[in-house]
Amino acid sequence: MTDLLKIGVLVSGNGSNLQAIIDRIEAGALPAQIVCVISNKADVFALERAKHHGIPTHVLDHRSHAGREAYDTALVELLRSHGVGLVVLAGFMRIVTPVLLGAFPHAVMNIHPALLPAFPGLHAQQQALQYGVKVSGCTVHFVDEGTDTGPIIIQAVVPVLDDDTEETLSARIQKEEHRIYPEAVSLFAAGRLAVDGRRVVIAPTA
Ligand code: GAR
Repeated sequence: MTDLLKIGVLVSGNGSNLQAIIDRIEAGALPAQIVCVISNKADVFALERAKHHGIPTHVLDHRSHAGREAYDTALVELLRSHGVGLVVLAGFMRIVTPVLLGAFPHAVMNIHPALLPAFPGLHAQQQALQYGVKVSGCTVHFVDEGTDTGPIIIQAVVPVLDDDTEETLSARIQKEEHRIYPEAVSLFAAGRLAVDGRRVVIAPTA
């Protein structure tokens, strides 16, 4: 039997994407194991979700490190101590450095609430509403050194309605996030993702 993929999830807030991945694993539909959940903030609900499912948690406060590289060095040490093979950013509101990316090449994923390359960075849903686009959505991508610029794994599209607020659009997008993030992790776990320049090629099922 092959070893299960060990996932480390990084969070900063609510953790609904973490929950979606936990649920997929517990349903037996994702052969992987979340070995740790790390937050840069104490008292976030994502940590409660992890504890509720018996997953080890850590708070690594960015304010107690001398800079981004020092913080990521500590992150790498913690992730390695758990034997992590895939790092999943799930609402982790920090820019990561080459220290983390070099330690986990093509093995750091993020989800962003827009159809990249449109509306990177903060407040993507608000940016979409202000621009007046008719569709938006979400993107799962491998992380590179830019902000939301890495090779795209899966995207999902939702309509933008005339009476949408940031809240209603965000809720519609999140429903899709909870579908495609576990799916992307599943493809990674099955060894079906290959990065070819900017493109992620998804191998057909054997
Ligand atoms: C998600 O909507 C995710 O797309 C977004 O934060 C939310 C976290 O929700 N991420 C970013 O904006 C990253 N730039 P969650 O904590 O409930 O999973």
